[in-house]
Amino acid sequence: MIIAIDGPSGAGKSTVAKAVAKKLGFSCLDTGAMYRAIAWQALADGVALDDDASLGAVARTHDIAFGHEAGDPAPKRVSIGGTDVTDAIRTAEIDRAVSPVSAAPSVREALVEQQRRIGCGGDYVVEGRDIGTVVFPEAEVKVFLTASDEERAHRRVRQNVDRGIGSIDFEEVLTDLRRRDDHDSSRATSPLKPAEDAAHLDSTGSYIEEVISRICDMARAKGAPVADASVGEGVR
Ligand code: DC
Repeated sequence: MIIAIDGPSGAGKSTVAKAVAKKLGFSCLDTGAMYRAIAWQALADGVALDDDASLGAVARTHDIAFGHEAGDPAPKRVSIGGTDVTDAIRTAEIDRAVSPVSAAPSVREALVEQQRRIGCGGDYVVEGRDIGTVVFPEAEVKVFLTASDEERAHRRVRQNVDRGIGSIDFEEVLTDLRRRDDHDSSRATSPLKPAEDAAHLDSTGSYIEEVISRICDMARAKGAPVADASVGEGVR
């Protein structure tokens, strides 16, 4: 079964995806991390960010791998071409580079193919921008998750403080978030938009647990196991 969670940056997709996966015993796939890894590799190789053909070659020739710890549905580490880039893909530099990289049609083509290959093998909660519309249009559960701009910026600042990387200036983070929203929604290839049959959920305020329960209920209605693997504590 595929649970597709799409939405803008900072809407809480990762938090919700991890908690839902833990409760249902599913695995998680963070497709944003894959676009970030390609952006990192493109910068490392000196590839121009508007060169679709070369960016596509980067995406086709470098393997992206996720490292799991036993019992944890969400991978802890991400690597590309054998280099661990878990922290390196969360910097402000990658935040800026990933927009043009994820707008490149040949990168999208290569990554969508990989995402389908990974997901078709099992039960996955897949988060991204085009999961319900392009990658898995036949997903059993589709969610479009949003939150207010301010809440999303606050969350990103808290996350950057915790990780010790990225900007911790609220206004800067808010501006960057809106810039990326505009870019993701207006690009020609696979723009961020809800699938017609997606459930629209809002995670502003303290509704995150409610969102998690709603998605688990939707998945169970489609045949996901009823057993609660965990209550999702420790998930952020
Ligand atoms: O979710 P995130 O912020 O880590 O995503 C990084 C970038 O990748 C963001 O600019 C949107 C883009 N992205 C995309 O275009 N399609 C996806 N399925 C996932 C992310």
